[in-house]
Amino acid sequence: MTALDDQPGIDTRLPWHMRGNYAPVMDEVEAFDLPVIGKLPADLNGRYFRNGANPMNAPTLHWFAGDGMIHGIRIRDGKAEWYRNRLVRTKALAGVDRFDMTNGAMDLTVGLANTHIVSHANRILALEEGSLPNELSNELDTLGPYNFEGRLDTPMTAHPHTCAETGEMHFFGYGFMPPFVTYHVADAGGQLVHTQAIDVPGPTMIHDFAISRNYAIFLDLPVTFNIEDAMSGGMPFGWEEGYGARIGLLNREAARRGEQPRWFDIDLCYIFHIMNAWDDGPDGHTVWLDAGRHASMWQGGADKFEPCYLWRWRFDLNTGTVHEEQLDDREHAFPRIDDRRCGLQNKVGWALSSRDQGSSEMDGSSVFLKYDLAKGTSEVHDFGPTTVSGEPVFVPAANGTAEDDGYVITYLYDKATQSSSFVVLDARDMGAEPLAIVPLPQRVPFGFHGSWIAD
Ligand SMILES: [Fe+2]
Repeated sequence: MTALDDQPGIDTRLPWHMRGNYAPVMDEVEAFDLPVIGKLPADLNGRYFRNGANPMNAPTLHWFAGDGMIHGIRIRDGKAEWYRNRLVRTKALAGVDRFDMTNGAMDLTVGLANTHIVSHANRILALEEGSLPNELSNELDTLGPYNFEGRLDTPMTAHPHTCAETGEMHFFGYGFMPPFVTYHVADAGGQLVHTQAIDVPGPTMIHDFAISRNYAIFLDLPVTFNIEDAMSGGMPFGWEEGYGARIGLLNREAARRGEQPRWFDIDLCYIFHIMNAWDDGPDGHTVWLDAGRHASMWQGGADKFEPCYLWRWRFDLNTGTVHEEQLDDREHAFPRIDDRRCGLQNKVGWALSSRDQGSSEMDGSSVFLKYDLAKGTSEVHDFGPTTVSGEPVFVPAANGTAEDDGYVITYLYDKATQSSSFVVLDARDMGAEPLAIVPLPQRVPFGFHGSWIAD
């Protein structure tokens, strides 16, 4: 029984990820010139697009297995010009199977495109880690699978990272067959300029990775591909303690010469999401990585999510040692930063947490955490007892100077009214009421990740 089950009309025979506000919406709608409660900042001009799993045909076996649907809102000149939700028109949605059962081959153009949506080099990409991206238009029309002009021949992670200084987009793909992990770099213009196999011992599931100014940072953790689970149609990955846990630091310059990462063994854990990483220079010897750490993942079933806390790993390249430290004792999800700090030391970080610790962050009522990483403290924005929030996305103010000069945006769901809204907070003042709330014409189901795409 979850907190959402006490709402009317909930069919408790359905799996949890098909009930309440996890349940899909079946219609694509759009609305123009939406009402605004409060005042939208004049320098907030762009689009907020958020992806999520929205099963269109039948109840899925896992929350992660639904069809990608983007909920988008267009803000300009203090107005909420439009809201619309659009399915990503993938081949999977059209019924194409990504596996060819006759020869075991995988069609990389077939995927759910349900996890994240990012913009790089004027392309908008809907991402899911098992396939190629799907390119979308500014109006959320699907343009089709995108393979970097024929150069990308592996799946693409849903968590690429764009270097704050070079504009390069660094990413990877993982698969079931060697090479299990492949590292890619697209230059600031969007050309795929580097592809390199990364040596790992087995078919590890890697959801995210990190870059610092001088390193690409790879997670090699004990959630691995399992053929029996895959054949049964369930989540094809599970906890494999004997696999071990390590993090690899690959010097970005050395990568161009084909060098491999230097691996550091760490305590067993799983990491879905990176907050950020940074280093102390090309001749330095220290690299820092902040990320959400789960003590384990999917032990005893693919619905068993251990709680996640913000941890820091400090790698000493002189001694080959790593120091692991928990930074905050509140559970969190979806850590984010000002993307202009990607790879550089950030003083501020954002994450979603729950009011009632111990409950799933999306079943309980939500708070936003604002981490002050210099002071080692965190502040809370409380959305109230009936409101559940999505991932916090930071948008810098037009003429900001401090790292938190800007806004934090997301979609909210109010359990009391079973309705959704878009919200804008002042990132400097977590105690303040929202600057603006835009009620939306339909419920926005809980989803995954999104981006602000500035004009
Ligand atoms: Fe993710």
